[in-house]
Amino acid sequence: MGWELRRTLAPLGEVIAPGRRELDLGDPDSVRSAVRQARPGLIVNAAAYTAVDRAESDPALAMAVNGTAPGILAEEAGRLDASLVHYSTDYVFDGTKPAAYSEEDAPNPLSVYGASKLAGEKAVQAAGISHLIFRTSWVYGGRGRNFLLTILRLAQERSELNIVDDQIGAPTWSRMIAEATAQILAQSARRVGERSGHLEQAGLFHLTAGGQTSWYGFTRAILDQVFPGTGPASASREPPRLNPIPAAMYPAAAARPKNSVLSNARLLAEFGIGLPHWSDCLKMCLSDMEQQ
Ligand SMILES: NC(=O)c1ccc[n+]([C@@H]2O[C@H](COP(=O)([O-])OP(=O)(O)OC[C@H]3O[C@@H](n4cnc5c(N)ncnc54)[C@H](OP(=O)(O)O)[C@@H]3O)[C@@H](O)[C@H]2O)c1
Repeated sequence: MGWELRRTLAPLGEVIAPGRRELDLGDPDSVRSAVRQARPGLIVNAAAYTAVDRAESDPALAMAVNGTAPGILAEEAGRLDASLVHYSTDYVFDGTKPAAYSEEDAPNPLSVYGASKLAGEKAVQAAGISHLIFRTSWVYGGRGRNFLLTILRLAQERSELNIVDDQIGAPTWSRMIAEATAQILAQSARRVGERSGHLEQAGLFHLTAGGQTSWYGFTRAILDQVFPGTGPASASREPPRLNPIPAAMYPAAAARPKNSVLSNARLLAEFGIGLPHWSDCLKMCLSDMEQQ
């Protein structure tokens, strides 16, 4: 998401994008000195400890990066009279609600990762600065490590894939999150009358693609795009056989919510922005990757 934001935010003002070496979120002094040196008008925090399973055995670092560092960023933003945009996750919920979660629903994370991200949300809110927190879900894209790239690799390596079919969410293309963020910031800047910087609104918003599916459904859609069947464009080899399995059959260190579909109604009402259906975004992403 950081890579997408760097490109998408560029028209709004100068973007400084420090990597881990210049700004280590696990080290409060590094966070403070990087912010004090750059003196930004707006901080967008796209970095996080995202290894959901590894976090179970590494809770101190997950909490430092996801729980404590966002509070330090917010504190430093406050010193500069700057604003903060921060991202959080659907995994703050326990997944027992039989419908889409709204921002008013009570979080109850099942994992260390979810708990650390919830702590980060609270730390940002407690700082009392102008901020936006976007909770998103099942993020994928053409770069980095993510579910889409893993499936594309496995589809070349294996003849059969077993994929969890009893966890429901909304796969969300990182580029859509970046573009929605840029549009919201541009709207806000127009209203406040600045090119970048101060946010008019503060608050928590769900920001995910439309629709919902399971990991199995997402995988089916990926394979249907990549192995379209007949015709000149069809792939040279057979697609792997795809088997739906329950999460109980896939041993993972961290528990994940059965339902983590988020309602985007607040985002639409406040900003007039709604991301397209996840399957349309997937097609756009794959076609973009093909052109690279
Ligand atoms: N991925 C998902 O499915 C998902 C779902 C819901 C919400 N989110 C949230 O969306 C946001 C963006 O996630 P993403 O998908 O872009 O994650 P990602 O691809 O895993 O990228 C995370 C980035 O954070 C950096 N990072 C990790 N630890 C750091 C540290 N100590 N100091 C500085 N940088 C550090 C990583 O740097 P290195 O490259 O050096 O490791 C990486 O560039 C995060 O807030 C995440 O919690 C993600």
